Amino acid sequence: MIDLTEFRIQANEMVDWMVHYYENIESFPVKPDIPPGEILSRLPAAPPSAGESMDDIFRDFKNTILPGMTHWQNPSFFAYFPANSSYPSVLAEMLTAALGAQCMVWETSPAAAELEERMMQWLRQMLGLPSSWEGVIQDTASTSTLTAILTAREKYTGFSSNKQGLSGLPVFRIYGSTETHSSIEKAVKIAGIGQENFVKIKPDDHLRLDPAKLSQAIEADRKTGKTPLAVIATLGTTGTTAIDDIEAIGNVCQEHHIWLHVDAALAGTALLLPEFRWMIRGIERADSFVFNPHKWMFTNFDCSAYFIRDKESLICTFEILPEYLKTKTRGKVNDYRDWGIPLGRRFRALKLWFVIRSYGVEGLQATVRRHITIARWLEEQVIQNPAFELMAPRTLNTVCFRYHPVEIKDAATLDRLNETLMLHLNKSGEMLLSHTRVGGAYTIRLVVGQTYVESRHVEEAWKRIKDTATAIELKNS
Ligand SMILES: Cc1ncc(COP(=O)(O)O)c(C=O)c1O
Repeated sequence: MIDLTEFRIQANEMVDWMVHYYENIESFPVKPDIPPGEILSRLPAAPPSAGESMDDIFRDFKNTILPGMTHWQNPSFFAYFPANSSYPSVLAEMLTAALGAQCMVWETSPAAAELEERMMQWLRQMLGLPSSWEGVIQDTASTSTLTAILTAREKYTGFSSNKQGLSGLPVFRIYGSTETHSSIEKAVKIAGIGQENFVKIKPDDHLRLDPAKLSQAIEADRKTGKTPLAVIATLGTTGTTAIDDIEAIGNVCQEHHIWLHVDAALAGTALLLPEFRWMIRGIERADSFVFNPHKWMFTNFDCSAYFIRDKESLICTFEILPEYLKTKTRGKVNDYRDWGIPLGRRFRALKLWFVIRSYGVEGLQATVRRHITIARWLEEQVIQNPAFELMAPRTLNTVCFRYHPVEIKDAATLDRLNETLMLHLNKSGEMLLSHTRVGGAYTIRLVVGQTYVESRHVEEAWKRIKDTATAIELKNS
């Protein structure tokens, strides 16, 4: 155990280390090249019986843990979707940890509840969402979507399924496309609706949910006595960042009185830019919306912004009032424990406040715009290079491509070549990419979204991709 004097010494040392880490982040391999079990084998099998010095613990962090970390804040992290962060966000997280507050109800931290209320209003304005909507911070988009599906289920059953259980209820159906994120299918499982009742509709040529096919699926279900409950539209699918047509899908939902949830986990951040507001044309027809500031808005994981049209139905779904949580302020303030699944809540609004104030809306816009401009540059390089193929249209910051030398015609060979290419690049530690399948074909994704990424990082990555592709092909020929 350390005392406050030692805490000061260690805290200063760790802040210095953090600065050094960020200064040198490009020198760390983006992903460690270590076998499974390597770190585990270096950790003692049993806990220490006597306390150890912080110097020893910190030394082991640097020697044992750090070499096994993937460096998500390295500007050459281009995989998945980013979980980016920023200096103001890290500072806020330090203060949040120091306060150690559990923000379950207004009474347990009034400022946390009221800052959360204000931050959600700021975000709503910043993204151009309807002014009557209300928002709450959840841990992840997965939780937000589960919250939406549970609320849809409760609202449909007149809030009786929470009380009486699911037996005797109709067979509910939830709709998305084959490109919809796996967290939706998971939510359908957890919500007691049954994985088989998640209807995955084949997307259109641009990998968007097809409103006509959606309509047909709903009508077919109705004819067989099933009950369409909710549609999940995606702004920015995980594979290719395709943008579903909210207006057209909203019309179908309105016609059939179905809940519309919009999953904008990554792409919601692009709504900061007026030139991308077309993505939410028709949003007033949606019932709920989620985007993750912890993906592309420079706010440390976790921070998921969930918005809802009808706040009362959300609260009716989740509220529960044991004696020990009764307060005199109930009904006059927002008790966010009633706005989602967990009782205990972290103070997540603080990092949003720090980030939004430190960048300003214009600073956030400039950074996101820069990322999109860099992604556009890369897309042009891919298009212009006859040995590469653009696999899906780029809308925002995800570029999907594969290496496709003209002489190779065989699909399986191309898949193998591209998988080998990506594995080589990732193993180098110089960058991290991930993949998807487009029309069944192995496709490499490069997402430009890390906070500190500059043109030079993507230029360097592109050169390395081309050189490695040529080297692999020569070796194989
Ligand atoms: C479109 C989309 N929705 C939902 C999620 C799940 O996000 P979370 O990790 O916050 O649950 C992701 C994750 O990448 C995603 O890409």
